[in-house]
Amino acid sequence: TAGQSLLVTEGSSQNVSQSASREVTVLFGSETGNAQSLAEEMHRKLEEQGFKATLSSMDDFKPKTLKNVQDLLIITATHGEGDPPDNALSFYEFLNSKRAPQLDGLRFSVLSLGDQSYEFFCQTGKDFDKRLEELGGERFYPRIDCDVDFDEPAAEWVEGVLSKLSEAQESNPAGEQILSTAQAAAALQTEKPVYSRTNPFKAEVLENLKLSGRGSNKETRHLELSLEGSNFKFEPGDSLGIFPENDPGLADNIINEMNWNPEEIVPVNKQGETSTLRKALISHFEITRLTKPMLTQAAQLFSNEKLTELIASGHEEELKSYLDGRDLLDLIRDFPPGKVAPSEFLQILRRIPVRLYSISSSFKANPDEVHLTIGTVRYEALGRNRIGVCSGQCAERIEPGDLLPIYIHRNPNFKFPSDSETPVIMIGPGTGVAPFRSFLQEREETGTLGKTWLFFGDQHFKSDFLYQVEWQKWLKEGVLSRMDVAFSRDNAEKVYVQHRMLEKSRDIYQWLKDGANVYVCGDEKNMAKDVHHTLQAILEKEGGMTQDEAELYLTQMRQEKRYQRDVY
Ligand code: 2AM
Repeated sequence: TAGQSLLVTEGSSQNVSQSASREVTVLFGSETGNAQSLAEEMHRKLEEQGFKATLSSMDDFKPKTLKNVQDLLIITATHGEGDPPDNALSFYEFLNSKRAPQLDGLRFSVLSLGDQSYEFFCQTGKDFDKRLEELGGERFYPRIDCDVDFDEPAAEWVEGVLSKLSEAQESNPAGEQILSTAQAAAALQTEKPVYSRTNPFKAEVLENLKLSGRGSNKETRHLELSLEGSNFKFEPGDSLGIFPENDPGLADNIINEMNWNPEEIVPVNKQGETSTLRKALISHFEITRLTKPMLTQAAQLFSNEKLTELIASGHEEELKSYLDGRDLLDLIRDFPPGKVAPSEFLQILRRIPVRLYSISSSFKANPDEVHLTIGTVRYEALGRNRIGVCSGQCAERIEPGDLLPIYIHRNPNFKFPSDSETPVIMIGPGTGVAPFRSFLQEREETGTLGKTWLFFGDQHFKSDFLYQVEWQKWLKEGVLSRMDVAFSRDNAEKVYVQHRMLEKSRDIYQWLKDGANVYVCGDEKNMAKDVHHTLQAILEKEGGMTQDEAELYLTQMRQEKRYQRDVY
């Protein structure tokens, strides 16, 4: 149908939109940009089919105009603990407040994105869905909740919604309109590059270096991949999606524990592709995390009374704590399944999710390469040494010459100012510094000046000062105007980036008054929260604001996209 819908003349779509009785509003709340791309795709398809459609981020949408909306499509992600994404917050609060209008006559449908391994799976989508109904809206197509592997269910929702909308619209001849070859060719030229999330590019690894020095408690790596032939473009702030592979050792342990034959041929997807069992467990399925729906299915598949009892008795808390930090090997050791055929077992597993990393190089400076800054995740839990899937693969099994399946993930919520006069404050401790290297590389390449200020922190000056030589060069050249560093474990007392910010509070306030944008990248739970409170404290101290005023100031900065975060 994509080919067919391309064949719509401008003229014909105008005719159709005049005859179309209803107008469709597409709103998105996006965390990493997936909800936004899906909303853009939905909007494009609506227009191609001759609907009058508008697209907007929830925080750009005027809630007062909600009363006039006829058909509303909501596509939203959910933040880790069940909260709305930043750009959905104000609309979410409005809808759930007393100010929300009655919405009789509104027809709506919700697509929610989430991750089954979180307790509050797809919560924001569920909340919108429920609330719109409470306010009198009519759900014309059921909500679909997508797990991390969202392509298929999202496509089902898009198709389902489009066909319901077409039914409602008595005549919609747009789909059949034919246009001239020249117009069709022009339309095709604007098509996306050949490589994408659904068709990843196999990038050759050029470098894989350890950045952190001797004596560091951490292992931080610098990867360089070749983009030659990919046709990929990206901007500072964008991420790279990697399709990782599991640790073969873990796959082997699972196979041994189950007494399976590693060479058995098994199906790996619904399209009928197959591979050996060993390869399936390494490359296709998630074996490092457990989810509640998976455990429920396992209870039916395994002949294990203990597991059946755990699921059946509804011990929610016990179940939650069991899921936390355990992998498939733990599961089959704790609840021996008896004899289960591999192909049946694989049906209860999720596909291995892609990993996103902030890109640390500039396309303008290095169009044929992409660089990443990756911290290796290693820890001990429940008596076993554990390692992050993708960071572990990079640390232990990736060498120059290897090929990695990748795609570019645009991040519309982390964009540097197009106006080079806008001062930029960047806060990026640890690997959070990645997008700022990309941004400064780009500035160096384009020769753009404009005030920039970087706050960097890590444990030790000697072993953890990532890219030290580059910052110093940029400081000398004026690409970077100021830099403050906080090495937390070089002295008896901990110093973090936010302590340095507070020391410079007067200057920071002055920069903010001069219209500076603020970017925060890195750890969400502790660092980003503390940095946020520090910004508040600076506004109170230097701007004489009350706590509420300071919070409002930051909310406004957020809405104006002057305060952006890429935190995880
Ligand atoms: P620590 O490991 O000594 O606690 C990058 O990881 C740097 O961020 C490290 O120096 C780390 O310090 C520091 N860090 C840890 N918690 C932080 C927080 N709440 N705010 C800012 N930096 C933090």
